[in-house]
Amino acid sequence: YVIGIDLGTSAVKALLVNKEGTIVAEASRSYPLYHERSGWSEQRPEDWVDATHEALRELAANENIDAGAIEGISFSGQMHGLVLLDGEGKPVRNAILWNDTRTTEQCREIERVLGDKLLRLTRNPALEGFTLPKILWVRENEPALFQSAESFLLPKDYVRYRLTGRRHMDYSDAAGTLLLEVAEKRWSDEVLEAFGLPASFPPPLVESHELTGTLLPEAAERSGLNVDTKVFAGGADNACGAIGSGILSEGLTLCSIGTSGVILSYEDDKSKDFGGKVHFFNHGKEDSFYAMGVTLAAGYSLSWFKKTFAPGESYDELLAEVGGLPPGAGGLLFTPYLVGERTPHADSSIRASFVGIDGSHERKHFARAVMEGITFSLNESVDMFRGAGKKVERIVSIGGGAQNPVWLQMQADIFGATVVSLENEQGPGLGAAMLAAYGCGWFDSLEACSAAFVKYASEYVPNQEASNAYVGLFRAYQQVYGATRELN
Ligand code: XUL
Repeated sequence: YVIGIDLGTSAVKALLVNKEGTIVAEASRSYPLYHERSGWSEQRPEDWVDATHEALRELAANENIDAGAIEGISFSGQMHGLVLLDGEGKPVRNAILWNDTRTTEQCREIERVLGDKLLRLTRNPALEGFTLPKILWVRENEPALFQSAESFLLPKDYVRYRLTGRRHMDYSDAAGTLLLEVAEKRWSDEVLEAFGLPASFPPPLVESHELTGTLLPEAAERSGLNVDTKVFAGGADNACGAIGSGILSEGLTLCSIGTSGVILSYEDDKSKDFGGKVHFFNHGKEDSFYAMGVTLAAGYSLSWFKKTFAPGESYDELLAEVGGLPPGAGGLLFTPYLVGERTPHADSSIRASFVGIDGSHERKHFARAVMEGITFSLNESVDMFRGAGKKVERIVSIGGGAQNPVWLQMQADIFGATVVSLENEQGPGLGAAMLAAYGCGWFDSLEACSAAFVKYASEYVPNQEASNAYVGLFRAYQQVYGATRELN
């Protein structure tokens, strides 16, 4: 067996997977998010460590298996979060997460200091969610704390460090720090020097399938796993979501709707230029890449809506009402900018709107508008990929957005592409398990592992009438940003 651990924003989920790729058991533990001020988003690294040990312990105690038969574990992690460590490897403060937008000033500073070099070296623009702006924020705003910081890790790398006692970062996650030369696969001395950070600040780089160690005796004790369980590096959640969906060659696209939402397109060519309009990161498959657009509040918008307006109902009940309405939510439009937006606006101060409210609208119209708004936002990324000459004809959909046929069909209609769902869909955890399976030598390549593990379920083909209606609605949606920007 192998275990894939998905360290998400709301919970950690661990999957126990056998050699056929069957998910034999799963265990999940949630942890709190702290929003001390508007735009701030933090978590306690110790909460991740405790939750991971508990989830592992539940799997190791599974009565149908022998914990000694668990050969390896690996990770998928929420990206970009800053875990600053002191000289003894202890966090100096809470982690500042990917969806924290306090760093607008630091982003402008990075642009000013690096100019054109920023895109040339890191292949990405300075966005609030990325890690370097967070490092600069702590240095400027909490100088006493920063004094004691000697290095940093990303969330899953910190958990892995606590399990193995060894510090590493894989390329797919390092790509989101703005400190990595993505195409060259090395830490950027130029960027580190420009901001006065020592070369020892980032940890050693590894491939996602690389062995990083075995369990510390204390971690083995707490988790119930054998001390010689192999621990592989793992990757960024979006890279692992793509691996677990078989997105391992040109022409394949992923739609993942979790708290955030992404459209991700596989890329072999490291010189492919999207002009910084979408993120360009290393994949978890060696020497490959992906381009990606991000909607900050995707699943988060629907969970906000449900919590606020339908607290007593299940998602299935809410979505059943939505499915009975035709495309367009009776003229109601929603922009999902609850915490600002990344792609295409890179604007942390914009906020969401409902536009076109009519006296005939009921809650179901609002719910449908929320789902359409999230999907329109993702369609901006689909549009951008098509504009850059990429074919987007077949999209594998995972995450919360793939749990319901109404939303899957809506994705096909709005994207104008065939949308494919997975059997027994589990998000990025399966990709993490695949990295462990490949790392353990069960397969010669990730592609071979994918052929065995990734099982496609249903295909949703665009309904021509709905697709046509959505073309006009999408244009109207795109105008809401400009019309509301000044109001926030
Ligand atoms: C990607 C991003 C999010 C997080 C969610 O750039 O910020 O998708 O990875 O965990």
